[in-house]
Amino acid sequence: MHSITLLFASLLALEATLALPVQETSSSDNPPLRGSPDLTGYAPTSDLSTPSSEFDYKLVPGQKDDANDGYYLDFSNVDAPQPIRGSKGGSDPGPRNPLLDKQNSDKLAPPGTDHGGVINAQWPMGLSHSKLGLDGAGWSRQENTKVMPDAKKMAGVDMRLEPHAYRELHWHVASEWALLLNGSARIQALNEDGQTFVDDVRAGDVWFFPRGVPHSIQALDDGVEFMLVFDDGDFSEDNTFLASEIFAHNPKEVLAKDLGVSIDAFKDIPSGELFIFPGTPAPKNIQEQNVTNSAGIIPKKVTYSFHWSEQPAHEVAGGSVKILDPVTFPIAADFSAALVTVKPGAMREIHWHPTSDEWTFFIQGQARATLFTPPSSANTFDYRAGDVAYFPQSNSHYVENVGEEDVIFLEVLLADHFSDVALGQWIATTPKQIVMDTLHLSSATLDAISKEKQYVVQGKSPQAPGNGTAS
Ligand SMILES: *[C@@H]1O[C@H](CO)[C@@H](O)[C@H](O)[C@H]1NC(C)=O
Ligand SMILES: *[C@@H]1O[C@H](CO)[C@@H](O)[C@H](O)[C@H]1NC(C)=O
Ligand SMILES: *[C@@H]1O[C@H](CO)[C@@H](O)[C@H](O)[C@H]1NC(C)=O
Repeated sequence: MHSITLLFASLLALEATLALPVQETSSSDNPPLRGSPDLTGYAPTSDLSTPSSEFDYKLVPGQKDDANDGYYLDFSNVDAPQPIRGSKGGSDPGPRNPLLDKQNSDKLAPPGTDHGGVINAQWPMGLSHSKLGLDGAGWSRQENTKVMPDAKKMAGVDMRLEPHAYRELHWHVASEWALLLNGSARIQALNEDGQTFVDDVRAGDVWFFPRGVPHSIQALDDGVEFMLVFDDGDFSEDNTFLASEIFAHNPKEVLAKDLGVSIDAFKDIPSGELFIFPGTPAPKNIQEQNVTNSAGIIPKKVTYSFHWSEQPAHEVAGGSVKILDPVTFPIAADFSAALVTVKPGAMREIHWHPTSDEWTFFIQGQARATLFTPPSSANTFDYRAGDVAYFPQSNSHYVENVGEEDVIFLEVLLADHFSDVALGQWIATTPKQIVMDTLHLSSATLDAISKEKQYVVQGKSPQAPGNGTAS
């Protein structure tokens, strides 16, 4: 009783200390936590009309041009880029994160044609939390609806396996389509008919594992990095069915009965997930890992790999395109992809995909894109290698190279063939009179537009031709 009373007494004393009047003088020079009540409104203590604090900033070419011209503003060489475009905006004395402002000029100083708000169509994998593999064996990081809430149909995982490392045997509810970005790997799987699959794939190749099909991936001598795309925006790599976990979470008595072996056989099984871990080098001769049963191998026509690296790209004016869809890779019945190269200044033309959202990954270079969503919302995003983009079904977009090297990116659709509608082809093939009445374009302008799909149009620099910096 006595000690409880004491405790109460000391709590009361503590409360009294915390409630001390704020103007109470402190014993040292250190000002108290709270200021004087005299600082409340109506009584400024000093003259506010001191000389304005000037700060230095530089505008870049194009920044004072008509905002609707919307030239790309290259902020990479200015210390304090400003949210000014044409006659709009104003200076920003800070605070700021200059690295983000320099990389995202179309966010800081949007083209005048941007309006309202669209979905967040950008996720840099560099902002994703890495999941590190065991014993230096690799890592992975993902994009899903946690970070891009409107990217509902597809999610992506970027994964690295050091030489000979494994992505553990597993399966998942979603289907998995993958592009190898670097190095090479051996992949293997079993389908529900008991047919087996094993293959070696390298940078530029693609694999596909249907939902529920258990598979594994092992890096060959040069290690491997790949981008996985799943047909479910909520997919998380943390929720896959791992071999280690299914063994760890069934009674050993049951495992022994199931596999017809002694219970002692399971004394060394891992107690939890391995996920990414070092391995014994895969035998050079793939035949040593070509395990079959009475069902045989998965027929070539419907195997799980496509040696896309060996398909030459189709050349177009501003770059090149190659398409992989069920027409040539039937097992991936819902996945259609294009690998697009856009030369400096060139642009993947304005287009939309009538049947699917688009999930995109930037592999190289620097680009921007405007996502237009009806009735009148449009936002421009700046992308770099390592970024994911997402464009909802039938929403128009382009991809303009704004850097000095080729832009390379992957477009993935959930569709039974790759398709798009190009703005240019649409306008050029609509009877002239209709377009002239609607858009007030001249006959000569319409004659200049190609009736053919361009995919990637050639172009000059995306930056303003003049200096455009006059104030
Ligand atoms: C893999 O990455 C390394 C390091 O960036 C690079 O030197 C090599 O050329 C890449 N290989 C492929 C096939 O892209
Ligand atoms: C595996 O063996 C089968 C014959 O059983 C053969 O048809 C198939 O090509 C082999 N796979 C590989 C990757 O060599
Ligand atoms: C930039 O353009 C303005 C007029 O548009 C011109 O007066 C000025 O001299 C130009 N500056 C440079 C550095 O070319």
